[in-house]
Amino acid sequence: MEVSLAITGASGAQYGIRLLDVLMAQGHSVHLAVSKAAAMVINIETPEQWPGSLRAQQQWLDERYQGQKGSVKIYGENDWMSPMASGSSSADTMVVCPCSTSTLSAIATGASNNLIERAADVVLKERGNLIVVPRETPMNTIHLRHMVTLSELGVTVLPAAPGFYQLPKTIDDMIDFVVARILQAMKLEQDLLPKWGYKGSE
Ligand SMILES: Cc1cc2nc3c(=O)[nH]c(=O)nc-3n(C[C@H](O)[C@H](O)[C@H](O)COP(=O)(O)O)c2cc1C
Repeated sequence: MEVSLAITGASGAQYGIRLLDVLMAQGHSVHLAVSKAAAMVINIETPEQWPGSLRAQQQWLDERYQGQKGSVKIYGENDWMSPMASGSSSADTMVVCPCSTSTLSAIATGASNNLIERAADVVLKERGNLIVVPRETPMNTIHLRHMVTLSELGVTVLPAAPGFYQLPKTIDDMIDFVVARILQAMKLEQDLLPKWGYKGSE
């Protein structure tokens, strides 16, 4: 499957990176865009240091996913030549994870001022599958209105809100909870989280 993934500058960069890890392990083809603010958050919240130049970022990705079934290509914020920028070539499915309230606002208002905003706009106009993973608390009425707008357009609004009913033991378990729900929204298989409910003959 071909998929666009945008990582923006909300807290929770780990969700986006873990999602990318799983997509690569499953053998998907990923078009990736990482905002400048997301780079800051990655550097603050994770053990990784996000490289400065696009070329170094691609190298970092190639090394990280060497030997994996999937492929990933990263695009710059003003790369209007990227497949993500046009309905004639964009992936049908796009995930913005995590999604800052800034990018949420831009998507809900059709701003299209950078590649991430444009790519989301393209998926909307092509009636594709757009999934946004907002993270902010508390939320103001502007954030809530933007989420309603997107939901009305058919977007899956999937807040980064891990549940506790599976009794997570580690932070990784909590990250996987959210990533599992994203994979489900993408209609992909996932074995990160057991399905809730009765099993077998119980
Ligand atoms: C460490 C850190 C954590 C942040 N956490 C959030 C957050 O949880 N939610 C949010 O909407 N913005 C958060 N921000 C602010 C956004 O990064 C900022 O609004 C930025 O303009 C978003 O730009 P982008 O949408 O292009 O990534 C955070 C910034 C930093 C540096």
